[in-house]
Amino acid sequence: MIELSGMKILITGATGGIGAEIARMLSQEGCRLVLTGRNDQAGLSLAGELAGSFFLPADLVEDEPYDIITRSAELLGGLDGLVNCAGMVLSRTLEDTSLDDFEDVMTLNARVPYFLCQAALPFLRDSSRPVIVNIGSVVSKKGYPLQSAYAASKHALLGFTKSLAAELFEEGIRVHAVLPGGVDTPMAARVRPDIDTSDLISPEEIAETVRFLIRFRGKGVVDEIEIHRGNSLPWN
Ligand SMILES: NC(=O)c1ccc[n+]([C@@H]2O[C@H](COP(=O)([O-])OP(=O)(O)OC[C@H]3O[C@@H](n4cnc5c(N)ncnc54)[C@H](OP(=O)(O)O)[C@@H]3O)[C@@H](O)[C@H]2O)c1
Repeated sequence: MIELSGMKILITGATGGIGAEIARMLSQEGCRLVLTGRNDQAGLSLAGELAGSFFLPADLVEDEPYDIITRSAELLGGLDGLVNCAGMVLSRTLEDTSLDDFEDVMTLNARVPYFLCQAALPFLRDSSRPVIVNIGSVVSKKGYPLQSAYAASKHALLGFTKSLAAELFEEGIRVHAVLPGGVDTPMAARVRPDIDTSDLISPEEIAETVRFLIRFRGKGVVDEIEIHRGNSLPWN
């Protein structure tokens, strides 16, 4: 296990349910963070709560990935890690999914993390403990009704995560995926209102997996962590 204190990490989607808990947990470990999101109020309030952290307001679809990464590295004085957590869900039949719907979900969930990783590479190469964690979903491996566009985007994210992990392996840059089932956040409330919130995974549990992946640098490598709801079948 490595010491996280002093690590400089950019977290996208930090204004959301899962991202905010990742930020709180990494901050408790002494990480210095840049938090992105569009919601100024939530971002400023969270950054105010977490010592040594900054809020960088950004619309990841509109803004240039290189600008976001460069600004983050300037604020932190370098970059050791990138946690791609921003995402959106679409719950719609194939027939009702427009080209714009498809492009929105593919852009935010797959294109944005891809090019943030690309922009972050020069900074990660200068780090002694470089790491990327991409937040996928159990839908990165499965299919559910009404989630064809979301599933396509999360499969794409996992596919590029695997390739990048292999591509950067020799350089010691670790690239991981976390694949959660339903988590108790505003997103789950929107897409799965049928699930009782008491049956959902807590955002803190997802944050624990991210912290573990960043800390775990032994002789073994953990590529991904898949975490499903406690009342859904294991290995399913
Ligand atoms: N909740 C679940 O059940 C679940 C399950 C599996 C995987 N996931 C994945 O976990 C990640 C986080 O989800 P969550 O549950 O925390 O969702 P959430 O509470 O809805 O948060 C989504 C985050 O993404 C950000 N975001 C959305 N569009 C953006 C844009 N154009 N530019 C910048 N930021 C943008 C939001 O920022 P603003 O609000 O500031 O715009 C927010 O911080 C997603 O990748 C999601 O696919 C969630």
